[in-house]
Amino acid sequence: MGSRTTLVWGIALVIVGSIGLGAVLVLGSSGAPLTGAGTFTSPGQRIYYTGLDDEGRPIPRTVRGGGMMGGSACVDCHGEDCRGGSLGMMFGAIEVPDIRYSALTSPHSEGGTAKPAWSDRDITRAIREGFEPDGQRIKAPMPRWDMTDTEANDVIAYLKELDTR
Ligand code: HEC
Repeated sequence: MGSRTTLVWGIALVIVGSIGLGAVLVLGSSGAPLTGAGTFTSPGQRIYYTGLDDEGRPIPRTVRGGGMMGGSACVDCHGEDCRGGSLGMMFGAIEVPDIRYSALTSPHSEGGTAKPAWSDRDITRAIREGFEPDGQRIKAPMPRWDMTDTEANDVIAYLKELDTR
């Protein structure tokens, strides 16, 4: 094979690979619609499923060691019911905490460590700044989300909504 043919094959492989990756990303979003604010019952649900603001733009976030997964929305890691669980990642399984409102706002335990009841402000700080109330750093791959107050409140409202299901 001449080097030109090799190059063409190389490019073809990259294209096929990208299509495959796109399919994986779409499937990875739990079948939820990727865009279209109108398809969600609340702004909080839209953020939870897509990570998009009300104009369809990704809410800025700092991805810390999550690689591609960090680019996804809350649902991809915390699950449709917010209960978290074990998530398979490239570097092994990680434990994702239960973030239902009732779980966060009552004394709970995470990996055997006792945690106090969180306030709404604590939840917002965890999402935005990546700190727990006791100052402990929330580890990767949980991103830090540069949300407005309204967006943070919308997400909290959605976590509350899930409690009632
Ligand atoms: C790439 C995966 C990933 C995404 C996306 C993600 N999280 Fe997390 N989140 C985690 C992991 C892992 C932890 C636990 C980290 C630790 O144990 O220090 C966590 C922790 C949290 C916590 C702290 C809970 C606790 O008990 O420590 C909250 C609150 C939270 N996430 C909310 C959200 C919200 C809201 C979104 C979407 C806006 C989101 N997360 C998106 C993986 C993710």
